[in-house]
Amino acid sequence: MPIRARAHVYQMQPYCPGKTPEQLMQELGLSELVKLSANENPLGASPRAQEAILQNLHKIHLYPDGNCTVLRDALSQFYNLPPDHFAFGNGSDELIHLFGIAYLEPGDELIMAHPSFVRYEASARLNRAVLKRIPLTPDFRHDLSAMAGAITERTKLLYIANPNNPTGTIVYRDELEQFLERVPEHGLVILDEAYFEYVDHPDYPNGLDYVRAGWNVVVFRTFSKAYGLAGLRIGYAMGRPELLDPIERVREPFNVNTLAQVAAAAAIWDRAHIERTRAFNRTGLAVLQSACERMGLRYVPSQANFLLIEVGSECARIQQRLLQQGILVRTGEAFDMPTFLRVNTGTPEQNERFIEALQHALYE
Ligand SMILES: Cc1ncc(COP(=O)(O)O)c(C=O)c1O
Repeated sequence: MPIRARAHVYQMQPYCPGKTPEQLMQELGLSELVKLSANENPLGASPRAQEAILQNLHKIHLYPDGNCTVLRDALSQFYNLPPDHFAFGNGSDELIHLFGIAYLEPGDELIMAHPSFVRYEASARLNRAVLKRIPLTPDFRHDLSAMAGAITERTKLLYIANPNNPTGTIVYRDELEQFLERVPEHGLVILDEAYFEYVDHPDYPNGLDYVRAGWNVVVFRTFSKAYGLAGLRIGYAMGRPELLDPIERVREPFNVNTLAQVAAAAAIWDRAHIERTRAFNRTGLAVLQSACERMGLRYVPSQANFLLIEVGSECARIQQRLLQQGILVRTGEAFDMPTFLRVNTGTPEQNERFIEALQHALYE
């Protein structure tokens, strides 16, 4: 009998990261590649974060602080929230994984929107939970009343990506509050606010308000997006200590590396960098959206740092033609929207290059 992993593991798909920019450049003979496919910050990391990394290079032979003390204290001060209200992950990806293994018994239910962030799904499958994917509304927003309607006595985790990836849409304060009223005591709502820093909308709810008010809510945020630290892998959860305690029990002792901790603790105070990032994004989205209007392309109005653009059944070919011109974007196949491209905002020059390349890809 050949050795076998647990049966349900074979029903899971490995994450497909695609080729690296270096591999693509070599294959296509490009001298430069503009990567607009992973919602990263085109301005890079805060100079303060980079300085903190340099200052701490001499410590990398030592294990990191397993408690993330300096970062925990920095965030506690920043948010005015007690230090025991934080848990840390090797990216918020790891937090999604940890909440799944800590909370989901086989047969428990995980409710999420579809399309939404694919890693929620993986955590349900890994733990043999029942996955309930509730379609977005026709205007690509969470259907919170249908999500509430899907709750049963086996519902354990309810994920809301706010803003949602891949659509960039948000749930509003009043609809979220009505939804929370309908979640029973045995359900934990996870508000994944990976793109929190980008949102401008006056009706956008700050998940932390619900943590402070004592709801069964945990908020995820990350240093990968607006903070420009995706390569270091660091995200955090905020919630009541008893909701985070199971995560402390199941996580690896040293899951967040030293350089990530010091960079994040420095980055959180660099508000000028975040403001600049927000301003670049606001202008970038406006430029991309008006280009879509000029070209007669439908798009989903976004509150995040990316835009979902409908280019039709030729989507994969258009993505290839963009690539040949040195622009990497994401096709919607991975999230069941095969006629859409997802592109994140770049620098003003990168945005212009993308628009020009898209025109070529579509019409020439
Ligand atoms: C909604 C959402 N949640 C979580 C993540 C994962 O982020 P991290 O880099 O912190 O693991 C992403 C990344 O794309 C995301 O879009």
